[in-house]
Amino acid sequence: MSSNSVPSSSDKLLSTAQIRQAFIDFFVSKQHTHVPSSSLVPFNDPTLLFTNAGMNQFKDCFLGIDKRDYTRAVTSQKCVRAGGKHNDLDNVGYTARHHTFFEMLGNFSFGDYFKQAAISYAWEFLTSKQWLALDAERLYVTVYETDNDAYNIWHNDIGLPADRIIRIGDNKGAPYASDNFWAMGDTGPCGPCTEVFFDHGEHVEGGLPGTPEEDGDRYIEVWNCVFMQFNRLADGTMEPLPAPSVDTGMGLERISAILQGVHSNYEIDLFVNLINSAAKLLGIANEGQASLKVIADHIRAVSFLIADGVLPSNEGRGYVLRRIIRRAVRHGNKLGAEDSFFYKMVAPLVTEMGEAYPQLVEKQAFIESAIEKEEVQFAKTLAQGLRLLDSELEGLKSGDVLSGEAAFKLYDTYGFPVDLTADITRERGISIDEAGFDEHMEQQRQRARDSGKFDVDYSAAIKVETATEFVGYEQLEDDQVTIIGLYQDGKEVDELNEGEQGVIVLNRTPFYAEGGGQVGEMGEIRSASGVFEVEDTKKSGQAIIHHGVVNMGSLTTQQPAEAQVKSNIRLASARNHSATHLLHAALRKVLGEKVSQKGSLVTSEVLRFDFSYDTPVSARDLLTIERLVNEQIQANIATQIEFMNIDEAMAKGAAALFGEKYGETVRVLTMGTREIEDGVEKPFSIELCGGLHVKRTGDIGLFKITSESGIAAGIRRIEALTGMGALRYVQQADSQLTTLANQLKAKRPEVAERVQSMADKQRELEKEIERLNQKIASAQAASLIDDVQLIADKKVLIAQVAGIDGKAIRGLMDDMKSKLQDTIIVLIGEKGEQLALAASVSKSLTGDIKAGDIIRYLATELGGKGGGKPDYAQGGAPNSDKLATVVAQLPSWLESLLA
Ligand code: ALA
Repeated sequence: MSSNSVPSSSDKLLSTAQIRQAFIDFFVSKQHTHVPSSSLVPFNDPTLLFTNAGMNQFKDCFLGIDKRDYTRAVTSQKCVRAGGKHNDLDNVGYTARHHTFFEMLGNFSFGDYFKQAAISYAWEFLTSKQWLALDAERLYVTVYETDNDAYNIWHNDIGLPADRIIRIGDNKGAPYASDNFWAMGDTGPCGPCTEVFFDHGEHVEGGLPGTPEEDGDRYIEVWNCVFMQFNRLADGTMEPLPAPSVDTGMGLERISAILQGVHSNYEIDLFVNLINSAAKLLGIANEGQASLKVIADHIRAVSFLIADGVLPSNEGRGYVLRRIIRRAVRHGNKLGAEDSFFYKMVAPLVTEMGEAYPQLVEKQAFIESAIEKEEVQFAKTLAQGLRLLDSELEGLKSGDVLSGEAAFKLYDTYGFPVDLTADITRERGISIDEAGFDEHMEQQRQRARDSGKFDVDYSAAIKVETATEFVGYEQLEDDQVTIIGLYQDGKEVDELNEGEQGVIVLNRTPFYAEGGGQVGEMGEIRSASGVFEVEDTKKSGQAIIHHGVVNMGSLTTQQPAEAQVKSNIRLASARNHSATHLLHAALRKVLGEKVSQKGSLVTSEVLRFDFSYDTPVSARDLLTIERLVNEQIQANIATQIEFMNIDEAMAKGAAALFGEKYGETVRVLTMGTREIEDGVEKPFSIELCGGLHVKRTGDIGLFKITSESGIAAGIRRIEALTGMGALRYVQQADSQLTTLANQLKAKRPEVAERVQSMADKQRELEKEIERLNQKIASAQAASLIDDVQLIADKKVLIAQVAGIDGKAIRGLMDDMKSKLQDTIIVLIGEKGEQLALAASVSKSLTGDIKAGDIIRYLATELGGKGGGKPDYAQGGAPNSDKLATVVAQLPSWLESLLA
């Protein structure tokens, strides 16, 4: 396709891929920078569960706290609207236009053009013969009721007749709550918008926006152009943005449906191919089943979420993913799937979307295995759960409600997300008592809240306009900085006094702010009038903010000051951070390139590295990994730091963390030996990183892995130490070994052997004791025969025997039974804190009394448990003072039953 037009839509239907490309080409031709889609996991935004609009990645640009090299951008953004505020999951499969995953085409202006250009671009792209060539007569627009500017542009400049411009006011019950006032969430950038609607034609039911029939399918919104003007604060205040901006969004699937002359999004090329693949996979015909649509929709959300680092779990994002997978699996089962099938949908998806999203191709195998694992796990409980649900639904009819308790039980025992249960009951016209379910869930919810995942951070609440210059790469202190902002409880103040907690912002700082897995630095900020102890350093937009407490005197804004980082802590953190890079590289060398970083934590004390890998790392591999890292340390190579653009860095093979936001120019860190491979120099480690590092690998001193464990399905964690920390660890382990050797009176290399032989000996002794106990028991048995008494004319033996546990009592009972016919025998063994109870009733007497009843009686009296058959029963109870009384009363209890 040429870069400035599309094939005429009159002679050739445009594919979804072509439409995506045309949109990008059009806006690039209007001087927009093409920015890649951001991750579905929002970067550094605790207010969002998933990326749900094209503007998310630009939130700070609208607010004026992030500045980019461009003021115009165009994107095709991956979005998920499932879980959280925007949740379309329940509707997917049953309507023409709901998706869990969709692509939003958008153009953006950050203080550049405004209403006039935004509207003319939209109109040109939609109607120009060179671009989409839509019939202008079929387009309608809405504007915010009071937005005369937008109205006039449509009417006077574009020439749209008045009867095709509809004003929509606050139609959702509050000021600014309107279909034509768009907001990202309860807080954040927002503004009035104008929307373009397409008329699908008279044959479809539905009315114009603003009429009672507006929810019909005739007039469909295709493009929303938001005129970003305000930042809505938590208290409802509408603060004007630094500059009016533009944010637009057009659903790729919807516009494709229009251009391909179909009414439902599920009939566009991309979905038809996915649906046909699903049908083929399940060996059925595509007859428009809702379940096929569900599968085609869900494989997109699931694959893209996994590619962006989300894995099925019981919390937060992972739980939403789990729900989507399970819903898809259930729909597959409805269509007859018996085995895992859903993971096989990844391949057709890669065919459809791999070209536009190469990450899908790269991670295909990983995505497939993550889905398959979840399918296998779910299959184990699905059938049982469905049986339980069937029995709960018995007797209920259409219009009835399933109890919240039943829904919760399905969730709790069989892993049925409530929307999956709802999906099943809905097919029978039955709804769920969601309030009841929620009540049962409250405890689990509380747990999720306690884990603090989506807590809003104070730093995010502090809005600092200016950027702080970071000077810490080369120095630990700067004695000529200026305090440019002071904050207390999130509010700006002029002064911080002794004992007060607060935040200081400087024009320039040597303090490293938390980022890239490294924690923020600590130290001191001193002015002529006071000393502030920095306990943590974080970022807020472009500013670096220092959290801490005033230790002495007071500090005021605009004061000159000195800033000093604690040097020992800085160096220890740098060692750990650099070792993390070497560890990452060593892991990939030993375990393979499939290892990808899932997270890391670097403090001055420890380092922690999380990565994707399916099985525990073997002890042998851990040794190799540890050795490789230490070899690099001993090679003592200088760390190289370069700045370059992101494409160059990628071409050099620099590891970047997926989902991390990188600027245009990146800092590339190269560490370790350089090997020449195919004429190209390959450094041991090369990564994008803004963190603090050692000057030479030798500065790390020593690297020691202290643990390897699993933290979630498919994710492993390695913890390690460096420098003096590693030395201390080794010394401690060493002195423990010496102590052990001394206690065992063995030489150090013999310790393991000695412990093994002691364990063997102990086992032998235990067996010997067991044998002796049996012997004693049968000797006791012989003498017990004399204790037989008559109760209600029946022969009864009640005996207490010492040293007999639950295992030995059975042998003793067998011995007694062979010696005593037609007898009721009750044995109580005492060993340590435990009582073993056994009762035997000869067959001839089980009509009078049952062994099980005797044991249940004893167990109840003694506070234990037990039971069994009519002729033999056994139990246990804790040994207590009650025993004597219970034994004394047993004959009369037996008499009352036997008489
Ligand atoms: N951000 C706007 C939307 O999502 C364009 O509709």
